[in-house]
Amino acid sequence: MTNTFGSTILRFESVSSTNDVARDLALSSADEGVCVIAREQTSGRGRQGRSWSSTLGEGLYLSIILRPRVEASESAIITLAAAVSVAEALRLDFHIRADIKWPNDIMVAGRKICGILVEAAIEGTRLQYAILGIGVNIAQRLFPEPIGESATSILLETGRRIKPEDFADGLLPRLEHWYTIAMSDSAQVIARWEELSSSGRDCIVRVDSSGDAIEGVTRGLTTAGALIVELANGERREIVAGDVRVRSVTADLA
Ligand code: BTN
Repeated sequence: MTNTFGSTILRFESVSSTNDVARDLALSSADEGVCVIAREQTSGRGRQGRSWSSTLGEGLYLSIILRPRVEASESAIITLAAAVSVAEALRLDFHIRADIKWPNDIMVAGRKICGILVEAAIEGTRLQYAILGIGVNIAQRLFPEPIGESATSILLETGRRIKPEDFADGLLPRLEHWYTIAMSDSAQVIARWEELSSSGRDCIVRVDSSGDAIEGVTRGLTTAGALIVELANGERREIVAGDVRVRSVTADLA
């Protein structure tokens, strides 16, 4: 394992979004692995146009510049590798029963503890750069509405108050490890992702995707990281984007 990730960490007190700062650096030719960490974000953002609650000193708000040599159509593997890294850090370093919900929400007993947002610039069919943004709830006791009861933090799960940068120190080598594997052997990342997800296989889910809602049983991931959902009529759909709601962790629709 090398340690390119985090050999340069730019730390800020308050920014709009660490993804914005990292994007500007990427556009000025910053190297792969350069990290941006802020103690607070005033416009932290999540997937699908949502905001990300980013209160001062209570979360890890981290963005990493990536320059992956992959086709844009293969970029989902980056998000999956990041989800594996965070889930492993929570499980192995903090004994938290972290569970990945497709594609990259990290949950603990149904509450979200981490979200991941990858924003990429595409040049032709390849990625010019990707910004891997990770938000981990570290020391929150309460969350503002509408998040309220649907989120949790390391403090709430373990009673331990750690510093966001201490979580980053353990996370960065794992991220580099899984990102390196993702670039050469994506099947290994997918296999590990499936091990760390209780809902990626044989679980009844509802998926909301571009205004369309389907219900079915999960049948694992494709090699490109799409979620396979089997409908009641046996048809298999490959979901590439959307929100998954877990309805039951046992298989087969009635
Ligand atoms: C989600 O689950 O919707 C993704 C949340 C991603 C939040 C992180 S915090 C660091 C980086 N900066 C942002 O504005 N968003 C990501």
